[in-house]
Amino acid sequence: MLTRTDKPRKRLQAIRSDNATSRAEKRGQRMTSALFADNNVKLDLLRRRAFNGRWAMQAPDVIPLTAADPDFPAAPEIRAAIKGYVDDGLLGYGPAEGLPEFKETMARVVAERKGIGCTPGLILPTDSAAAGMFLIARHALEPGDEAIIFDPVDFLFGQAVDAAGGKRVYSPVDKAAGTFDLGGLRRLITPRTRMICVCNPHNPLGRVMTGEELLQIGRLAVDHGLTIMSDEIWSDIVYPPHRHTSMAGLSPEIAERTITVFGLSKTFGLAGLRIGFLVAPTAHAYERLAELSRVRTTAAGVTTLSQVAAVAAYRECWYWVDAFLTHLREMRDYVVGRLNAIPGVDCRKPEGTYVVFPDITGLGMDSQKTADCLLEQARVAVVPGLPRWFGPGAEGNIRLCFSTSRGILTEALDRIERALRGRGKAGS
Ligand SMILES: Cc1ncc(COP(=O)(O)O)c(C=O)c1O
Repeated sequence: MLTRTDKPRKRLQAIRSDNATSRAEKRGQRMTSALFADNNVKLDLLRRRAFNGRWAMQAPDVIPLTAADPDFPAAPEIRAAIKGYVDDGLLGYGPAEGLPEFKETMARVVAERKGIGCTPGLILPTDSAAAGMFLIARHALEPGDEAIIFDPVDFLFGQAVDAAGGKRVYSPVDKAAGTFDLGGLRRLITPRTRMICVCNPHNPLGRVMTGEELLQIGRLAVDHGLTIMSDEIWSDIVYPPHRHTSMAGLSPEIAERTITVFGLSKTFGLAGLRIGFLVAPTAHAYERLAELSRVRTTAAGVTTLSQVAAVAAYRECWYWVDAFLTHLREMRDYVVGRLNAIPGVDCRKPEGTYVVFPDITGLGMDSQKTADCLLEQARVAVVPGLPRWFGPGAEGNIRLCFSTSRGILTEALDRIERALRGRGKAGS
């Protein structure tokens, strides 16, 4: 006899064969279906390797739609590059401020793809985008200084400001409309303001900021002499017709004030390698960032293996990203459609990222209760809209990550739908 927890597990095991047929019927997706097929999600391996609230940290019957981390294996070229480097056998110290080929490749790709004029000498590798954000906050803030951050937004912004001794000043985001209160930004600026933090594309709203929106923020920073922390880790995960615009590509005056963070966790699924990098605006800023980062003391730094992986990713794997995007776009449409069919749930379609942030106020439960209900009754883990994850403005929403297979998402959404049936208020 199946126990309550066995049943969903059996269904998960059946996903591979169930979905093979419908996938085979799909046309024009040869590359995508090979790389992002259901059978490329290795549940046994994920249950041992995928942490940060994901498979390895959940009961065996739970589907985690929690941390924004792909369930798919990294591109073959990245794996081959790491293996090749290890097989050469020499694993001694690398250059403190990064391998020359890392700095050269990142600078070239950032210039070509993001339109930011930069040279290898302005690229500083960091052991994750998160570490890069903390470093920028220390660079820009003295204790007591104020930094403006969106609300809601990924928790790393607030934590980076706190760690530098700064004070968070929240700029509200209209979650329903997906708009930023740019007119109100100016009113938040005081004599203690030193930095504006931008998350573009925005996690968790999935908004891709327009050039006009960015210009307004950029001009404000120029007028008030503020640093801009521009987190563009999601900039490769953008769905047409939307296009990513880099803050530092807008004008030389804005570029001079902007420190951009890029990462490889979201685009290439390399979060475990803890690799990202900063693009400094000037040699002077680079110098200060490098000094503050402690890489020159060797007490910090990015492993050479992670840099080698990043070089392979940026040189050889954009075909993989294109296929990933094709898959993600389908999953986005599928997830949004299924969620909006549940009474009491209202989900905006993200323009970028692979997370959705549906409004669940129509269910009559707060975000923690909704997440508890989904875990208990659907055996699906989601992130509740609590202040500690996204800021005080996140209540009333939950976040779900969709960078997994169609089979897993189908199973998860079937379960969610069953668990929430009858809870939505009439007419919502
Ligand atoms: C907006 C944003 N910035 C930074 C990060 C952290 O990336 P990394 O894994 O490179 O530290 C994340 C991860 O979720 C994110 O969403």
